[in-house]
Amino acid sequence: MKDKTIVLGVTGGIAAYKAALLASLLTKRGARVITVMTKGATRFITPLTLQSLTHLPVYTDIFDERDPSRITHIDLADSADLVVIAPATADFIARAAHGMADDLLSALLLATTAPVVFAPAMNVHMYGHPIVLRNLQTLREAGYHVAEPGEGPLACGYTGKGRLMEPEDIVEFMEMVLTPKRLHGMRVLVSAGPTRERIDPVRYLSNDSTGTMGYALAQAAWRMGATVTLVSGPVGIKPPVGVEVVSVESAGEMRTAVLGVANDQDAVIMAAAVADYRPALVSERKLKKGEGGRTLELIKNPDILAELCQSSNQRAYVVGFAAETHDAEFYAQKKLREKGADMLVLNNVLEPGAGFGAGTNRVTVFFADGDTVAVQRQPKLGVASEILALVAERLLRRRERKDALDPDA
Ligand code: CTP
Repeated sequence: MKDKTIVLGVTGGIAAYKAALLASLLTKRGARVITVMTKGATRFITPLTLQSLTHLPVYTDIFDERDPSRITHIDLADSADLVVIAPATADFIARAAHGMADDLLSALLLATTAPVVFAPAMNVHMYGHPIVLRNLQTLREAGYHVAEPGEGPLACGYTGKGRLMEPEDIVEFMEMVLTPKRLHGMRVLVSAGPTRERIDPVRYLSNDSTGTMGYALAQAAWRMGATVTLVSGPVGIKPPVGVEVVSVESAGEMRTAVLGVANDQDAVIMAAAVADYRPALVSERKLKKGEGGRTLELIKNPDILAELCQSSNQRAYVVGFAAETHDAEFYAQKKLREKGADMLVLNNVLEPGAGFGAGTNRVTVFFADGDTVAVQRQPKLGVASEILALVAERLLRRRERKDALDPDA
């Protein structure tokens, strides 16, 4: 969002008050937010509110031409990197779908060549009305993006689909729209988080993984246009927008979830910190303490990554991670070779700003063909984007090789 010019269109529904939060979030991310309000919107929230949050003028009237040398709706349309209509009422959606241009916002929509996001909000029956659905379909066919409303209690008293997408999620949706689609049409599976290996109903073995890196990878892959499945161990973070989450607990459950869909994927990224061992016996009842010490017998868990790489009908590009504390490169190269992955991301978890739960990371990427790429320390989402750019490049190369071998395919 940094340094992007965003035209925020606000139309007249009760969710207009949430436009203030959206304007604030976008401004905090470094965007220049220019607000355009319909007449109806000004009945719910004042232009002064938006102006105070964005520190920029707010426009409400198509005939308010402040500078004789310019035409406001064309100027605004040309300056936008993205136009977002939030909330978009049924009335505004209908007017946009029919190419009306009788106010500033509808006129600039026709004049802009920037991507446009509609975030509808209305009563559940209005949202489900065939005319509204048809109008939204018309907008999609015109190349506009629709940030689908959520389900829940509505201001009108009903409960159902029609709630404005949460402002943080609208921002994420806009980030997705602005990201080049290097993984368009691809299916990507990411595993994330720790696994828990039960000892008894109240105790388990696990590790320090928080899932942050895996979740960042899923988020970055979605932004780049992939259909993403996130197989997640137990973590305490919010799932990324647009991603299908499969929640698991143990390594055995993660194995079933990953191997069950791996054949349909273009890439599988095993970022999960899978427990290598599990208790040989799981007690159905809480274990009571005895007199002396206690020995826990552990048995080996299946190695999901190795199994995946070695399975004969495996066609996905497979990425493994190596969490190391010493002799990092030696162990990373060993894992790449022995497990048979296409790419391995080395993460030195004792390094400051790079370990479990840190906001940032720094990694080295090793490829099966001998290449190595260093990714500088930065927020995990940035590291994830660089890793996925490398995956996208390799997938493209693989496709080009395949096309060259079989031009008729
Ligand atoms: N992995 C896996 N199944 C396991 C253990 C690990 O699929 N049972 C995957 C991880 O998701 C990661 C890679 O293998 O992509 C390496 O995991 P890591 O924990 O670094 O290494 P291990 O193979 O467990 O070896 P060690 O604990 O000896 O370092």
